Amino acid sequence: MNQMTSLSSLSRSPVSKKQAASVEFRNVTKRYGNVTAVDSVSFTIEPGQLVTLLGPSGCGKTTTLRMIAGLEMASEGQILIGGRDVTNLSAADRDVSMVFQSYALFPHMSVLENVAYGPTVQGISKKDANEMAMEKLEIIGLKGLEKRSPSELSGGQQQRVAVARALVLEPQVLLFDEPLSNLDAKLRRRVREDIRELQQSLNLTVAYVTHDQEEALAVSDHIIVMSNARIAQTGTPRELYEEPADLFVADFIGDANIISGEVLDEGGAVANVRIGGVDIQLPRRGVGRGPVKLAVRPDAIALDEGSAASGKLMGTVKKASYLGTQVEYEVESPIGELFVVQYGRKDPIAPGTPISVSFATQRGIAIIPGA
Ligand SMILES: Nc1ncnc2c1ncn2[C@@H]1O[C@H](COP(=O)(O)OP(=O)(O)O)[C@@H](O)[C@H]1O
Ligand SMILES: [Mg+2]
Repeated sequence: MNQMTSLSSLSRSPVSKKQAASVEFRNVTKRYGNVTAVDSVSFTIEPGQLVTLLGPSGCGKTTTLRMIAGLEMASEGQILIGGRDVTNLSAADRDVSMVFQSYALFPHMSVLENVAYGPTVQGISKKDANEMAMEKLEIIGLKGLEKRSPSELSGGQQQRVAVARALVLEPQVLLFDEPLSNLDAKLRRRVREDIRELQQSLNLTVAYVTHDQEEALAVSDHIIVMSNARIAQTGTPRELYEEPADLFVADFIGDANIISGEVLDEGGAVANVRIGGVDIQLPRRGVGRGPVKLAVRPDAIALDEGSAASGKLMGTVKKASYLGTQVEYEVESPIGELFVVQYGRKDPIAPGTPISVSFATQRGIAIIPGA
């Protein structure tokens, strides 16, 4: 919210503030007929953290979120919010709010009425409900627009009304299902930063669903990567990028060249790995001697014009694209076609130029265990 400076008003609020709560799934499964939408999933979201459920369409993200909200009931397993077992509680009995993909605003109500609706339904007087609503509208940067109807607002403003409405009862947990999908590309970056700032300033526990890995990396404390109804890996953005657990995660998080190599030795924290005749040392990640797959990030490959040097592979530039902050290359090499990004405003190397390929930063190269 661009008016985040007004957050200090929170401390003057007459409404008592609740503690952020944890969310825990213990072997939770959800079946629809013979479709298993979520398959024995376990995770913990610590209080005050923003955790993203990330994965391709159909992997079970929305179902997981709806089970936190109590909008779907688990077929098996246990769900705890703030340490309390809520597995069999309905949505109304859980202290959780959800911001829907479609916003789901009432079109015939003003912004203020939309936000005050929740407290009113709970039996809070209209005066107090309006006061609570105004407080949240101010936090979210919509003060002055409270009399408008949703149709008189931009997409970004409607999204904020939806957030204010979810916040108004100060839920223990706030849920977002693909909150940026109705916004244009430019607005998306700003709104995601606004959500992150709000979450941190108010110390909210947030479960956030997206299929966009860049968005997930940008906003999350932790990311739960889902694939086919299961968790593929859980970690910080950096752990997922630098230490992918499997091929799916390596490929899904950021760009990666998946290349073949061979581990030459056994035991020890560091493995000697041969890649197309060049030997490098990498964290072993529990892998023994033999063939392995490696995830090589596009900026971990250096290209040099000119003749072969020891420790380097020869290749040819197939395609070069100048993109301002970076130059992107497709390179033909003995270990396959490589996608390479070089930062810094350099003149692109012309297609057809022979080049040598080396591995510039070992941080950007990881053995993929079990691949
Ligand atoms: N109400 C439902 N009835 C039957 N199948 C459903 C229902 N909701 C979701 N599914 C199925 O469960 C799987 C996971 O869906 P969903 O959680 O919506 O995935 P995501 O949000 O990751 O795209 C999909 O195969 C979907 O078709
Ligand atoms: Mg979904």
